Amino acid sequence: MKTALIVLSDRAASGERPDACIPAMRELLGAQYEIVREAVLPDDAGALQAELIDLCDSGAASLVLTSGGTGISPRDRTPQATAAIVDYEVPGIADAIRAASIEIVPTAMLSRAIAGVRHRTLIVNLPGNPKAVSETMSVLLPVLPHALKQLNGETDHGP
Ligand code: MTE
Repeated sequence: MKTALIVLSDRAASGERPDACIPAMRELLGAQYEIVREAVLPDDAGALQAELIDLCDSGAASLVLTSGGTGISPRDRTPQATAAIVDYEVPGIADAIRAASIEIVPTAMLSRAIAGVRHRTLIVNLPGNPKAVSETMSVLLPVLPHALKQLNGETDHGP
């Protein structure tokens, strides 16, 4: 499954702080996910939307994971930028991730992360720290094979 990994972080994008989230996502995905693009972007809605539109409309990626910018600080733009370019949201993914996360850390309720589909690409927002990436991906990974098959019309509505 062709996958793109995008980090949203002013500090990582400026080089002020090394990014640890893309390495965490890459490691947790494993070999069956072919990483076709990695990008560290500032917390800029336009830059993220351009990247997402290109990845989805070109068919370059079936899955895009973003990390960061999902909270309520002034520069957090990822959920609204994502919502503006998806054809439809997949609220069950975001809800499941938040529900599991709130059990671990109450501040998880501050993540406005969404999941959605543009054309045939599933986009999932994750929070922007390696611990959160690990915890949220443990919720997401089990559903990805079925989700991506269904997105490509390869499966009926079985379990
Ligand atoms: N979810 C999990 N599973 N683990 C975490 O540590 N951090 C929370 C939340 N979700 C966290 C989590 C915190 S502290 C914030 S501020 C929000 O994610 C938003 O983080 P972001 O702005 O880096 O996306």
